[in-house]
Amino acid sequence: MNDLIELIKSRRSIRHFLNKPVEDEIIYKVLDAGRWAPSGLNNQPWKFVIIKNQDLKQKIGELSHYKRIFIEAPVLIGIFLDTNSIYHREKDIMGIGACFENILLAIHALGLGGVWLGEILKAKKEVSEILNLEEHLELMGFIAFGYPDKEKIKNLKSQRKDLKELIIKEA
Ligand SMILES: Cc1cc2nc3c(=O)[nH]c(=O)nc-3n(C[C@H](O)[C@H](O)[C@H](O)COP(=O)(O)O)c2cc1C
Repeated sequence: MNDLIELIKSRRSIRHFLNKPVEDEIIYKVLDAGRWAPSGLNNQPWKFVIIKNQDLKQKIGELSHYKRIFIEAPVLIGIFLDTNSIYHREKDIMGIGACFENILLAIHALGLGGVWLGEILKAKKEVSEILNLEEHLELMGFIAFGYPDKEKIKNLKSQRKDLKELIIKEA
């Protein structure tokens, strides 16, 4: 259990990758961790798109401030809300957040690195058009991942607010 807490705390957003393909087995393993996320009423409202094609990565990247990450990451996972099977929009979206985190943790646990890309949501319609997806699939974001470029990420740090700032009441 302590190992899990250490895994959670040592995960960082990785934005630099080696130019090395990720094995399909690993891609399916991290998506498998995603599908085991909790969701309201066990609704499992998520759908995944796996992108390895360079032309598609380029086209989607053009829509984002984080273009370089979209282009350089060996794999992009698009995560979509299936609005045809919504039971409660807010709760379904929270479940999708849990799915994102499961995937990010699985990527980290397997020795790879990834980052949640949400800024692209400003262009969700354009992304769906590029991917030729039906209208009931609403983009929730991407996870870009691959083998980390250890040289470029060696000074990576992140901070969190102090726990005492976050606990507003203890009764
Ligand atoms: C909803 C959401 C959207 C995010 N969107 C982006 C993004 O578009 N581009 C990016 O580089 N990082 C993005 N991030 C990653 C955050 O910047 C990162 O998690 C935060 O700075 C904490 O750093 P850490 O993950 O290394 O601990 C996003 C994270 C979340 C949860």
